[in-house]
Amino acid sequence: MKTPGLINTVMDRLILPGAFGFTRLGYELRQWAWPSLDVSLQGKTVVITGATSGLGRSAAFSLAGLGARLVLVGRDREKTENTRDEISKTTGNDQVIVQLADLSLMAEVHELAERLLRDEPQIDVLINNAAVLPARRTLTTEGLELTFATDLLSPYLLTVLLIPRLRKSAPARIVNVLSGGMYFSGIDVGNLQNEKGRFDGSRAYARAKRGLMILTEQWADELRESRVTVNAMHPGWADTPGVEGSLPGFYKVTRSFLRTAEQGSDTIVWLAAAPEVSDTSGQFWLDREPHVTTVLPCTGGTPAERRDLRKTLEGYVEETMG
Ligand SMILES: NC(=O)c1ccc[n+]([C@@H]2O[C@H](COP(=O)([O-])OP(=O)(O)OC[C@H]3O[C@@H](n4cnc5c(N)ncnc54)[C@H](OP(=O)(O)O)[C@@H]3O)[C@@H](O)[C@H]2O)c1
Repeated sequence: MKTPGLINTVMDRLILPGAFGFTRLGYELRQWAWPSLDVSLQGKTVVITGATSGLGRSAAFSLAGLGARLVLVGRDREKTENTRDEISKTTGNDQVIVQLADLSLMAEVHELAERLLRDEPQIDVLINNAAVLPARRTLTTEGLELTFATDLLSPYLLTVLLIPRLRKSAPARIVNVLSGGMYFSGIDVGNLQNEKGRFDGSRAYARAKRGLMILTEQWADELRESRVTVNAMHPGWADTPGVEGSLPGFYKVTRSFLRTAEQGSDTIVWLAAAPEVSDTSGQFWLDREPHVTTVLPCTGGTPAERRDLRKTLEGYVEETMG
């Protein structure tokens, strides 16, 4: 297993130089050394959420180009079907399937998993990419805060429901798309729904991503013997509809330094496909390099918090499903 390098670790811990690495310049500095991703995903099935926009869409084009049978999960029929058609037309890959689900609703996540288990005898890669960063605290029709529901509970539930199929399909991979924002947050298990104090969208988002990092590490440990790897990644700062819509101020200031969606999604595709990470699990990646998961004290979660997180998420699933 590759451990985080000294230079990356120092840059991450010094935050500002670390943030430089998130820009287009950081990507360009690193990518010249990479070999091309010369691999075929023919015969492999990849399920990707949030495939209709930004990084998920870009990753979907690349994965289809590598020959994968691709299941695009989207919430809007027209947008998802258009994405499928464009991918097939551009790559010549007609093994691109649409599955519809509003991932902020656990009932729909359940139904999605049921359909996937029925229709996909083999799932080789699951990419949990969909996420939101709403400015205001909003509740879903199931009564859950939207950021928590979409960014943490939904990938938790989808992954738990699909793990048996991933085990059966081993070697298999799970890739969780996180954010460098996670570095600024611990996990507040008693406030997963972001109801205490003034709502701060970025904080709610960072907390959910921290939760998904903890789950990544726990699943990696639990699945170690099963040849199902679980990794998390940070795309850097990329120019996507999500960033423009959710962080307009940040977008305006940083626009000329943002990566393209292709640059931001490179490590998603690499973690899903590259032979050199077939045995690597439980790590947090940026630009094909492992990075530390914490830079601030007390943000990694105490053993009790990490244990309680699982119980609390399970409790929310049971409560929501009645
Ligand atoms: N871009 C960056 O700089 C950056 C930085 C750090 C982390 N990330 C992470 O990268 C991932 C992709 O972000 P992005 O920038 O590409 O964002 P984006 O352009 O907003 O794309 C988000 C995707 O998630 C889907 N989605 C959102 N809510 C959903 C729901 N309830 N049900 C089903 N699908 C839903 C969206 O569907 P619609 O098309 O229907 O809206 C869209 O396909 C996220 O996990 C984000 O946290 C991005």
